[in-house]
Amino acid sequence: MSEREDKDRRPPSTYELIGGDEALRRLVDNFYDEMETNLKAKIIRALHDKDLRSSYEKLFMFLSGCMGGPERYIAAFGHPRLRARHLPFPIGEQERDQWLMCMQVALDKLVIDSF
Ligand code: HEM
Repeated sequence: MSEREDKDRRPPSTYELIGGDEALRRLVDNFYDEMETNLKAKIIRALHDKDLRSSYEKLFMFLSGCMGGPERYIAAFGHPRLRARHLPFPIGEQERDQWLMCMQVALDKLVIDSF
């Protein structure tokens, strides 16, 4: 089987299924909008830089590769080592819950907007 045929037969990646770059950018936009505007996320908002642009770009690049799209984060920064990169921050249950809440809202909005 040629490489081309093999590629055509593989199941679509999560990145492709959600709608590629355009959808992923909306997801990350939704995520940081929620973190910025929802007071219930204020503990994790305070952990992030005042200017969220670099966090936005890094999460976009990471999720792109993580979801089976282009490996942008690794190309730019090497192995993600996400546990190590989060070690400087005090992350407990409240922080975890706030992060997940923002991602849940971000995903819900992405799905609602696709109808
Ligand atoms: C458990 C809750 C989490 C909290 C509280 C948290 C918090 C943070 C903070 C404070 C930063 C630094 C941002 C800045 O420099 O302004 C960061 C960076 C980052 N986070 Fe998280 N995070 C969490 C979970 C996650 C998860 C689950 C992922 C991946 C799906 C993720 C992906 C990233 C990435 C890619 C970066 C950038 C790392 C770098 O290159 O510096 N985080 N996170």
